[in-house]
Amino acid sequence: MDLTKVVSKITRPMLTEGDIIQMIIEDHKPLKELIQIMKSDRALEERVAAFDDFATQLVLHAKPEELVLYKDMKSKKDLRELAIEGDVEHSLADQMLEEIKRATDPAEKGAKIKVLAELVEHHIKEEENELLPQFQSNSTEEERLSLGSRFLKAKAEFFEMGGDDAPSEALLSGEDLRH
Ligand SMILES: [Fe+2]
Ligand SMILES: [Fe+2]
Repeated sequence: MDLTKVVSKITRPMLTEGDIIQMIIEDHKPLKELIQIMKSDRALEERVAAFDDFATQLVLHAKPEELVLYKDMKSKKDLRELAIEGDVEHSLADQMLEEIKRATDPAEKGAKIKVLAELVEHHIKEEENELLPQFQSNSTEEERLSLGSRFLKAKAEFFEMGGDDAPSEALLSGEDLRH
C-alpha cells in the first residue's frame, strides 16, 4: 500500500463540488500541461501553438480569479497581502503575453515564451501550496460555494467577450460579482 497517498487523502479534506478552490485547481491542469510544452526544447512552432492556446486559457482563468477570489481575499486582513501578490504576478504575466504577441524575432519570441511559462508555473505552485490553503482555512464552505458560482458566471462572461483581451471590470455586468 502506498502510504503517502493515504496520508495526503487524510490531511487534505475533500472539497465539495462547486467549491471555488476545486474549480481553480481544475483550471490549472490544462495550463500546467501547456507550460511543459512552452518551456521545453521542442520546435518553436510547437511552442508557439501551445502559447496561443495558453494565452486564451490563461485570460479566461486569471481575470475571473482576480475579480472573484482575489477581490474577496483583499477584503480580509489576513489574506490581503497574498491576494495582492497574486494580482502583481498576473499583471507581469499580462505584460509578457503582450510582448510575446508583438515579438517578430523568433529567438525573442521563444525566449519570452519560456520566461512566461516559468513565471506562471511558479505562480500556480504558490497559489496551490500557499494562497489556496490559507484561503481555505480563513473561509467557510458556504462562502466558497457562493464564490464558486460567481467564478463560473464571470468565466462565462469573459468567454462571451472572446476571452482574448482583458476587459476592464466596469465592462462586466457583474454588480453581483462584487458581493
Ligand atoms: Fe490560478
Ligand atoms: Fe492566479
